[in-house]
Amino acid sequence: MKNFVSVKDVKDINALVQEALAYKADPYKDINLGTRRRIGMLFLNPSMRTRLSTQVAAQQLGMEAVVFNVGSEGWALEFEEEAIMSGNTVEHVKDAAPIMGKYFDILCIRTFPSLKNRDDDYSELYINQFIKYAGIPVVSLESATLHPLQSLTDIITMTEVLSQSPKPQGKPKVVLTWAPHVKPLPQCVANSFAQWVNAWGQAEFVIAHPEDYELDTQFTQGATITHDQEEALRDADFVYVKNWSTFHDYGKIYCNDPSWMLTNEKLRVSRNAKVMHCLPVRRNVELSDEILDSTNSLVTTQAGNRVWAAQAVLANLLRSK
Ligand code: CP
Repeated sequence: MKNFVSVKDVKDINALVQEALAYKADPYKDINLGTRRRIGMLFLNPSMRTRLSTQVAAQQLGMEAVVFNVGSEGWALEFEEEAIMSGNTVEHVKDAAPIMGKYFDILCIRTFPSLKNRDDDYSELYINQFIKYAGIPVVSLESATLHPLQSLTDIITMTEVLSQSPKPQGKPKVVLTWAPHVKPLPQCVANSFAQWVNAWGQAEFVIAHPEDYELDTQFTQGATITHDQEEALRDADFVYVKNWSTFHDYGKIYCNDPSWMLTNEKLRVSRNAKVMHCLPVRRNVELSDEILDSTNSLVTTQAGNRVWAAQAVLANLLRSK
């Protein structure tokens, strides 16, 4: 593994999942792997889970983690090539990234999309410029279009639950369902979940959303797409709940129909489905209290599993150096 910015960086998803679960069983088994190695964690945007779980993972590999909230505490970075920097940006990534490459062994970056210009966001300019100029492995802590550490965690969590349950006949049914929200949110988590579940290939995969909320087909190809949430939920084993803003007329809220919020009543047509969400979640907007506080909810298990996903990825990058 050279970088970790999408599922395309992973040769064997199931092998990586098993590595992560092995760390869950024995967190310190590779405590010497990262001795005298350092990761830099750059946050252009806020985080709780990604930041803490990646720090914990690094420490369990014997690494030192340095967190830099560059978005709020650093110089404003310029990412465009040949920019005339007469505006608000102070330092070009071409100058900053190679310096970080001298300080760290692995560079991790969180950079959200603008949701203003789809072509710019979907070019993944920011993370690609770090890959181009840092000269060390780059890990996405969520980029403009993808959130691979979250998606790896989601596959780990489903694998773990399946291994503890009676085997379903055929492939488990996994449903990604849109949920209402008060703000326009990126498509990253939904794109990434779709990309990983499709690449995993071990689920019957359905995406349910209102009209006009289509995701980019480069990520959804292989899934069944429907506007009928009830039909999607029928016989579901896992329901992944997430809001995203519109992709075609980019970054908008069209329908914010509260009837799309998942409830226990709606889950009755499922196979007692486990409910997933990446968090943070707007209670009683995106997901009801009754679901989040029920035994069907996997959200805390999922967030806990972020550590093992990060640890497996960092260990792979350390071994590849
Ligand atoms: N799911 C997730 O990435 O959480 P944070 O934004 O808190 O890191």
